Amino acid sequence: MLVSGTGTVLDSVVGASVPVALVAADRPCEALERASRAGIEPLLVARKSFGQDFDRPAYTASMVAELSERHIDLIAMAGFGTIFTSEIHDVYGGRILNTHPSLLPAFPGWHAVRDALAYGVKVTGCTVHVAGVEVDTGPILAQEPVRVRDDDTEESLHQRIKAVEHKLYPDTIRSILERGSVL
Ligand code: GRF
Repeated sequence: MLVSGTGTVLDSVVGASVPVALVAADRPCEALERASRAGIEPLLVARKSFGQDFDRPAYTASMVAELSERHIDLIAMAGFGTIFTSEIHDVYGGRILNTHPSLLPAFPGWHAVRDALAYGVKVTGCTVHVAGVEVDTGPILAQEPVRVRDDDTEESLHQRIKAVEHKLYPDTIRSILERGSVL
């Protein structure tokens, strides 16, 4: 699993007894600590820069090398904050999953919850999908709606969306593992 944040989605997958071989992050984060506590190898493939000079192709190549070396065959992103170059699909195309806190194709991007609130939608939700080359695109595997409340803040709405993701993502990954294929 690839993480950058607090790792509650990671926890839900591990807690659902879905086997996780490796947790890799692009920055030091709470999710890596959760991995260690759960007895899963934590791997920091640290970004050297978050600015204009970030070497995205080199970063993508180093992550692919780390994953291939460990014979990882399915990648599940859970709040991973780095966009790879398309080269990752040469090796892992069709085998990268993502969970996103909106009903895609609405509100792609890093601020999906904020954007949905700002637009004024009454229903949003979460999407589990196979990662396409463009960010937050690709075949949709599962979606669940979440109603927006009048007094919602970005945080309160995201908490309720995450509560749904915490069931939908492990369930979806488990059925993929049982089927032996993503689609
Ligand atoms: C989730 O809402 C996921 O959809 C989004 O980032 C969040 C990850 O949360 N891409 P956490 O770090 O697992 O708590």
